[in-house]
Amino acid sequence: AKAARIALMPGDGIGVEVMDQAVRVLERLRERDGLRLHWDVLAWPSTAWHQEHGQMMPDDALTQACDYDALLLGALGDPGPLVDHKRYRLPDGVSLAPLLTFRKGLDLWACERPARLLPGAPRYLADPRAEQVDMLVIRENSEGEYVNQGGRLQQGTPHEVATQLEIFTRRGTERLIRHAFVRARERLQIHGSARSFFCAEKGTAAAQVCLITKRNAQPAWGELYTEVFAEVAREFPDIGVTHQLVDAACMKFVQCPWEFDVVVASNLHGDILTDLAAVLSGGLGLAPSCNINPDSREMPALFEPTHGSAPDIAGQGKANPAAMLLTTAMMLEWLGFGPSAERLRQAVAQDLLTSNTQARRCSEVTDGIIAQLD
Ligand code: NAD
Ligand code: IPM
Ligand code: MN
Repeated sequence: AKAARIALMPGDGIGVEVMDQAVRVLERLRERDGLRLHWDVLAWPSTAWHQEHGQMMPDDALTQACDYDALLLGALGDPGPLVDHKRYRLPDGVSLAPLLTFRKGLDLWACERPARLLPGAPRYLADPRAEQVDMLVIRENSEGEYVNQGGRLQQGTPHEVATQLEIFTRRGTERLIRHAFVRARERLQIHGSARSFFCAEKGTAAAQVCLITKRNAQPAWGELYTEVFAEVAREFPDIGVTHQLVDAACMKFVQCPWEFDVVVASNLHGDILTDLAAVLSGGLGLAPSCNINPDSREMPALFEPTHGSAPDIAGQGKANPAAMLLTTAMMLEWLGFGPSAERLRQAVAQDLLTSNTQARRCSEVTDGIIAQLD
């Protein structure tokens, strides 16, 4: 078989620091497991590229990316003199963030962000049931609140109006929701009848999909989501269903997060809920994420931790690389290196159990994880 080709995009701030750790682990796994794995570093979109070329990425960035099977990204966002929205604008002005350009341009319409509290990870909730947290948030990744259409009218005047359009398509909704049910069924196969979720319509179920909307205030897309959800749910009689308005969901994520299994949400709601879910799994330093097209392998998938470039701790060796390493495991799984992915996940889990992550520097955490690998 041909070697899997991956592109590493370190990005900014702690993105660069955690990418260094991912490379150490990839080198170790490649050697240890004989993985046929090739990688290149695409230094953009980094500060350096920007300084030299005045733009975030080369014009043919997407074409270049398509030369790979997967992309691994640190994080983007630099606390430099430019404000976020400027830094993220492409030369043609199409998109806000290179990140969003990749998600949309490569049609990576599903973002998966699992939240599991591993033993030994910081538990922020007092209730011991928080140890059972094991949910998967699936976030719409191609439309919704992120279409970046709209603008500022009569800018700077007292009459200024800013508009920001949200677009939800039936096609985009249906593929998203069906994918959530498929994942719920896979989880059902893994967990068997060990878990139990309340479902008013179908009775208690061992797996569940919770739909998130704000349909009381945003009825157009709320109704579309609700309707499609009900249609797709009929194809999955074994999966429980429930719905939460996004504000109540935030409350329940804190009050009783163990009552969630698969959660399916729009682009923006998913973004917000997954920072919260990250805390349930021990913090942003432990939260992995992937952007995939579940129907197609034509384009590379994009793997990146949920966290950003963390300017408040960048350059201090304080970043926890575990989120990036769990993300790397997701990527290895996607590339077909299942056993190595599992070994890496186990090493992260073992390391959490046996060490005090919070007292260690970034590279020391990786030392511990590599020691567990060997
Ligand atoms: P952030 O995720 O960078 O940081 C939020 C908080 O979590 C900070 O206090 C930070 O120190 C902490 N944190 C994050 N990752 C950590 C880790 N691995 N270990 C320990 N602590 C960690 O969010 P922010 O501060 O709102 O955003 C900073 C920049 O990152 C912004 O420019 C934002 O747009 C960008 N961002 C990029 C991505 C991405 O590229 N995937 C994701 C989120 C935010
Ligand atoms: C994330 C980030 C991005 C998002 C930003 C950087 C545009 O917060 O990946 O969660 O909102 O999707
Ligand atoms: Mn986010």
